Parts: sequence; C-alpha cells; structure tokens
Amino acid sequence: MKTILVTGGAGFIGSNFIRYVFGKGGFRGRVVNLDKLTYAGNLENLADIERKYKGRYTFVKGDICDFKLLNGIFKKYKPEAVAHFAAESHVDRSIFGPKDFVETNIQGTFALLETARNFWQNSSIPDSRFPTSFRFHHVSTDEVYGSLGKTGKFKETTPYDPRSPYSASKASSDHLVRAYHHTYGLPVTISNCSNNYGPYHFPEKLVPLAILNALEGKPLPVYGDGLQVRDWLYVEDHCAAIWEIINKGRAGETYNVGGNCEMKNIDVVKGICSALERAVPARHNKALNGKNYADLITYVKDRAGHDRRYAIDFSKIKKELGWQPAVRFAGGLAKTVDWYLANPGWVKNVKTGAYRKWISRNYGK
Ligand code: NAD
Ligand code: TYD
Repeated sequence: MKTILVTGGAGFIGSNFIRYVFGKGGFRGRVVNLDKLTYAGNLENLADIERKYKGRYTFVKGDICDFKLLNGIFKKYKPEAVAHFAAESHVDRSIFGPKDFVETNIQGTFALLETARNFWQNSSIPDSRFPTSFRFHHVSTDEVYGSLGKTGKFKETTPYDPRSPYSASKASSDHLVRAYHHTYGLPVTISNCSNNYGPYHFPEKLVPLAILNALEGKPLPVYGDGLQVRDWLYVEDHCAAIWEIINKGRAGETYNVGGNCEMKNIDVVKGICSALERAVPARHNKALNGKNYADLITYVKDRAGHDRRYAIDFSKIKKELGWQPAVRFAGGLAKTVDWYLANPGWVKNVKTGAYRKWISRNYGK
C-alpha cells in the first residue's frame, strides 16, 4: 500500500491512528489527512508527525461533504485505502445541535463513498494507472446498537437501535457503507468500537474533562446516578485494531472492537482521582485548597436519553485477526494522566482556544 487517505486525522483518534500507522504499524507509504478543522480538529495533535514524516505526510484542509474537493484528492493522490474517522463525535453536542451531525456523519460519509466508488470503479479498468485493490474502512461506534440491560454484550449481529442524534447519524452512515458493498461491491470494512481514552482527547469528553478539572480543583460532573456502564479502550489499542482490519479484514465485514473493561461512570471518575493522587498528591496541589480529588465529584442533571449500559463482544476480531486489547484500564489511565501533565502547552492552547488562532493564521477561517 502506498497511500492512505485519512479523514478527520486532526481529531483525537485520527491523530493517534496516523502516529500509530507510521510508528508501530510499520507503514512505509504516504498519509493524506483531510480534515475540516472544526473545534475538535487540532493540528498541534500532529506537530511531531509533520516534522518527522515530511514528504510522507500531507495535510488538506477541507470538508468531506465537498464533492469537488474529494474528487480532486482521489485523482491527485490515488489512495489504496481510506480510513474514515471524520465525524461530529460528541453525544451532548448532538442533543443541543443535531444538524452538523446529519451533515457530516451522513451526508459527508455519502459524499466520500460516492467519490470512492467512482475512483474504485475506474481504477478497476485494465491498464489503468489506478490501483486495482482498494479498501474503504469506516470507523464507527458501539452506540449504534442502543442500550443494554444488566447482562449481554453487543455482537456484530445485534440489531441497530440508535437512541441519540449522534448514534442515529453514525448508524445511518454504517448502513450507507454496507449498502455500497452490497450494491456496488465496494470493498468496505466497518469497526464498531467502545469508548476510547488516551492522549490528545478533547476535554469535553468524560476522561480528559475530569483529569483537567481535577487538576484545577473544579467540580467533576457525573451525570444522573453515575451508574451508567461503558466499555473503555485505550486509544492505541483501537488504532491497532483498525490497522489490522484495513490490512487483513475481510471486505464487507463488520468487526466489533472493545476493551473488555466495563466500568460504571462513577468508578471511572474515582479511578481518575486515584491516578491523579499518585501523580500529583492532593496535598501538593494548591488548587485543591486542602480537599481530596474525590471531594470534587458533583452529581449533575442527567443527559437526555442517556443510554444505560454498553458492552462489546470482540470475539470475532480476536478469532479472525488475532487482535485483543493490550492495555489495562489502570495502566492506560496512568499513561493518560502522565500525558496531560507532560503537555501543559497543548492543554493551555486547547483551554484558551489558542489552537484555533494558529489554525486561522495558517489555513484561514
Ligand atoms: P473527534 O471529534 O476528536 O475528531 C473528529 C475530527 O473530524 C476532527 O478533527 C474534525 O475537525 C474532523 N471533522 C469533523 N467534521 C468534518 C468534516 N465535515 N470534514 C472533514 N473533517 C471533519 O472524534 P474522535 O473521538 O477522534 O472520533 C473519530 C471517529 O471515531 C468518529 O467517527 C467517531 O464516531 C468514532 N468513534 C469514536 C469513539 C470515541 O470514544 N471517541 C468511539 C468509537 C468510535
Ligand atoms: P462521553 O465521554 O461524553 O462519551 P460518550 O457519550 O460517547 O459515551 O461520556 C462517557 C460517559 O460519561 C457517558 O455515560 C456520559 C458520562 N459523562 C458524565 O457523567 N459527565 C460528563 O461531564 C461527561 C462529559 C460525560
């Protein structure tokens, strides 16, 4: 494989994926990163990649809904694979403003599929300069399956039952991706993954929000009774799973990816407090004014339509591709806390919005 087109590569998982592919993934080719740089896109996430892989890494600022731009990118770079991460990704934002979710997650995925199909069909012509093998990998979420009761896990065969505007838009995009395989034969794969955590996570999501609030002595908001269950996966493990699927997964297949790590939200927040206590003991943190980290836990109004429990059965990817999570939650959380402590510049730029100013100076609005 010579060129991979990554969409949404300036976001949390996409940037970790690009780093993984060039590093542990052992990829020798080129990555083209197409990202609109919404509030969630941060080129500082890739500053080391730009320096280290000059000539093999190209950034294109743009929208996956833009057919003309997409056509130009496929013509120019002739990717052998697409790793599609670009999305509006935050459930709470989807509750307050679903429009962007429908546009990017549904219409954007459609535009990308349609462009990829044209490119792939033309590239199958004999003697064409285009590659004949092609892979479209769609990164999706376990939230498309809905909410579980006390027992059971999501399998690839679990019927879809999305319940937030975010999960409904992701479910819709999954259906489109599958339809392009069944109807046109486009070689697609889909991964449905559980909650990720790790470096470069934007601090609107639970784990980074709690870490950064705790360090500043601010409240740690826990929605409702805090007994909702999520299955947590360290982001690098997710990236490894996606790379395995792109390289070895069977076209037309869906693979569930999970961390074997079901946790109640309140226990995640308490785990963050313990990890912080080890890294920066509360008695040395002036922002806490003599409190413990756990004293900051504050129960707040529940999220509308809050799904109760997610859990993933990842036996298919384990059996077929030999993938399983390598990082345990306590170790992953410690690494994550250490990363936020070691990168105060990144944290400051995200919290003050300075990362946006840098982008508009270099790439326009
Ligand atoms: P993120 O919000 O951190 O990043 C999304 C990226 O997409 C940003 O860089 C943003 O600028 C870009 N983007 C948004 N709209 C765009 C558009 N119209 N055109 C081009 N780029 C656009 O999200 P994330 O957490 O890294 O999630 C990446 C993917 O993984 C998403 O598809 C998400 O649904 C899926 N996923 C996330 C999780 C999780 O726990 N975060 C779990 C399972 C699946
Ligand atoms: P989040 O990180 O937003 O991811 P997702 O909604 O995709 O699962 O939320 C993870 C869980 O934590 C979810 O059950 C909602 C809950 N939560 C809180 O309790 N407090 C918070 O401040 C946030 C952001 C989330």
